[in-house]
Amino acid sequence: MGKVEEDMNCIYRDPNEPVEARIRDLLSRMTLKEKVGQMTQIERRVATPDAIKDLSIGGILSACGSGPFQKALSSDWADLVDGFQKSALESRLGIPLIYGVDAVHGHSSVYGATIFPHNIGLGATRDADLVQKIGEATALEVRATGIQCTFAPCVAVCRDPRWGRCYESYSEDTEIVRKMTSIVTGLQGQLPHIHPKGYPFVAGRNNVIACAKHFVGDGGTDRGKNEGNTILSYEDLEMIHMAPYLDCISQGVSTIMASYSSWNECKLHANRFLLTEILKDKLGFKGFIFSDWAGLDRLSDPRGTNYRSCISSAVNAGIDMVMVPYDFKKFVEGLIDLVESGEISMARIDDAVERILRVKFVAGLFEFPFTNRSLLDTVGCKLHRDLAREAVRKSLVLLKNGKDPKKSFLPLDKNAKRICVFGTHADNLGYQCGGWTMKWSGGNGRITIGTTILDAIKAAAGDETEVVYEQNPSADTLARQDFSFAIVAVGEEPYVEGLGDNSELVIPLNGTDIISSVADSIPTLVILVSGRPLLLEPLLLDKIDALIAAWLPGSEGGGIADVVFGDFDFKGRLPVTWFKQVEQLPLHIGIDSCDFLFPLGFGLTCNKERSLD
Ligand code: GLC
Repeated sequence: MGKVEEDMNCIYRDPNEPVEARIRDLLSRMTLKEKVGQMTQIERRVATPDAIKDLSIGGILSACGSGPFQKALSSDWADLVDGFQKSALESRLGIPLIYGVDAVHGHSSVYGATIFPHNIGLGATRDADLVQKIGEATALEVRATGIQCTFAPCVAVCRDPRWGRCYESYSEDTEIVRKMTSIVTGLQGQLPHIHPKGYPFVAGRNNVIACAKHFVGDGGTDRGKNEGNTILSYEDLEMIHMAPYLDCISQGVSTIMASYSSWNECKLHANRFLLTEILKDKLGFKGFIFSDWAGLDRLSDPRGTNYRSCISSAVNAGIDMVMVPYDFKKFVEGLIDLVESGEISMARIDDAVERILRVKFVAGLFEFPFTNRSLLDTVGCKLHRDLAREAVRKSLVLLKNGKDPKKSFLPLDKNAKRICVFGTHADNLGYQCGGWTMKWSGGNGRITIGTTILDAIKAAAGDETEVVYEQNPSADTLARQDFSFAIVAVGEEPYVEGLGDNSELVIPLNGTDIISSVADSIPTLVILVSGRPLLLEPLLLDKIDALIAAWLPGSEGGGIADVVFGDFDFKGRLPVTWFKQVEQLPLHIGIDSCDFLFPLGFGLTCNKERSLD
């Protein structure tokens, strides 16, 4: 079937026509196959020009790091995305693609992009303006690569640090998460004064389509089990986990992603009450709902024989665009068959496609389907790296500052004669970026362009200062008595999703022994690089002189040296409660207990003020 005749008088092609008129006009021209195609999102590795054209595919995504080739530049990414878009515009009705990626802490799939602190560190800043600016910077770097949609922000309220996605949550405290939703305005642009309630919004070509996720209760599962079951009354689910979505919707969030998890044993992907009756009808959300990656397959029985019924459950529940992401033929055929058999109504299909088209029209994809290449130089630019460095500074939480209450240990003297730096995380960019960086599970070592903690210390230290570095401190080095102080950086290796579920929460990679051996002989600052609170034995805590929770700071390690050497004071405050023993978990705001190691909101400054929320 050829491309629609060049009937430029079509209403849907006229940007001067109201969006709703353009939607109605285009919908009226679409076949069932084209409507189903728009509800289909596929991963780029299975996206062929013919499939995109023939099926009128609605969306493509790159799994984290799934780009043209290793260390591809933003221009290579733009060529890749524009190539797919060209195929889409060659379809009969020429409906442009939405291309999505997980730019969850900067455009972290792209080599050389600015990597911001993960959300738990941003929650420690309590700084909504800063987070909005991070959204603006991220949007520019994403659009520079031709991509117009990010699967962010994650607005999970993490109630248990055993959850592998704890670091993707801004806080255990709903009110802090609500404040950090300012990133939606950063990503999509400032809403005009008059904006219809629940309507999607994207200001222009320097902004992206945001996606609030994962609706709803993903951070509240029993024992923090990833994709587990959240056992709560509706009132508590609404108060604790749903509240941030109202803030996202009030900022015009264009898409929302359903959670893999369940609420009282009912999977969100098949939960019509929450997806349609609450999110769409009661809250008035007018954008569209993504499934999560292979979210429909998660509904299936172990044998996977009932995929057709999974499609029926999910689409009838209110899922609009399905992140298949690979076997799209099975999905398209199954959905068409379900509509033709009457198990899914055409009204439900039209509702889904209307919402998808609404976001595409609002985002200007019909007018500007291709990359704005004037943005290429924004990727990893100094302005953005300086912003990330500011975010690192403000995210650090000072938990101990001196063994003697009257004598602070920090700030350290950058002109000391000789200092030593130890630990697995002192010179490892991959470790300080964490998961969702360059690939889904993150990486080890120089995975992109950035500044490690060691790089930053060396850059800040005086010309006469000798900096001795060993990842694992040797006995000979520890035996020397001429170090002014030691800095030990340890913590977690990168992890993602269920791979990060952990019920022990000890400092891995022999971190505790490294700390102990150094602190036995040298005055020691410990920098903990982790996605969550970890077990800190009291004896260990007594041995060290100072302790900083650095979370997962990203590419700009310079922000750590800035506060360690006193150029800036600490501002960070705990976004989570710090437990004493894992047996206490869950231990969070709302639970009546004071038996924590450090409370939510705790954070010292160098002038010894103890700041709480
Ligand atoms: C993942 C995650 C989701 C992400 C999606 C696409 O499994 O649950 O947060 O946006 O797949 O990568």
